[in-house]
Amino acid sequence: MEMNQDNMQRKPVRLIAAACNNSGIGKDGKVPWNLPCEFQYFMSTITRVSRPGKMNMMVWGKQCWFSHPKTSFPMANMMHVVLSTKLDTVPDHAHFLCQDFESAVRLAAQPPLAGLIDTVWVVGGTRVYKDALKHPWCDLVYLTHVMADFDCDVFFPEFDRGLFKLQERFPDVPSGIQEENGIKYKCQVFKREMSDAV
Ligand SMILES: NC(=O)c1ccc[n+]([C@@H]2O[C@H](COP(=O)([O-])OP(=O)(O)OC[C@H]3O[C@@H](n4cnc5c(N)ncnc54)[C@H](OP(=O)(O)O)[C@@H]3O)[C@@H](O)[C@H]2O)c1
Repeated sequence: MEMNQDNMQRKPVRLIAAACNNSGIGKDGKVPWNLPCEFQYFMSTITRVSRPGKMNMMVWGKQCWFSHPKTSFPMANMMHVVLSTKLDTVPDHAHFLCQDFESAVRLAAQPPLAGLIDTVWVVGGTRVYKDALKHPWCDLVYLTHVMADFDCDVFFPEFDRGLFKLQERFPDVPSGIQEENGIKYKCQVFKREMSDAV
């Protein structure tokens, strides 16, 4: 078990999103497309754990949290952290409230949760994704390319595709072009070499 001087157990920090041709991810607080199989792929990816009894941590921006249908809760194997500088109580169905991204990662990496948590999954929005991409423990970006144009007001941030390399194939990720409701999409994973990580 890897532990550093702050008594932290390093956890993989992973982003997951679906973005259309102009990198748009949302409009008016919602996802602008309806791709049920892609949503199933999202759910099965984030809820996968290394062995029974383990859990993942999902980090949500406030807007994402409140716009997500509450019918998805409770979610198997999942602890939910909502990020906000203004809320002062943990929202219904969530487990923790943090004021910044690093506090959420520390929560997962320190006792009492460190022994329980496998992966920190970052599910947006834009600022949470930006913070996660800069985090030294961020190793994978699961980014589905929705191959269509949608009017969006929220966007997935630019990232260095020289640093995060597109993988030709990746375990448990469908390969090739998928299609649902007449919309084509590709499930892509970008992997960062961790040599510079601390
Ligand atoms: N297509 C996809 O895969 C996908 C994924 C995720 C989201 N979306 C879409 O994206 C939109 C929501 O994203 P958004 O970017 O507008 O909002 P958001 O990140 O969900 O919420 C923004 C609020 O969350 C809090 N927050 C965010 N980052 C924080 C941080 N690092 N530290 C502390 N607080 C933080 C702040 O709340 P306070 O003001 O209280 O401080 C901020 O005002 C929706 O349309 C949603 O459907 C799409």
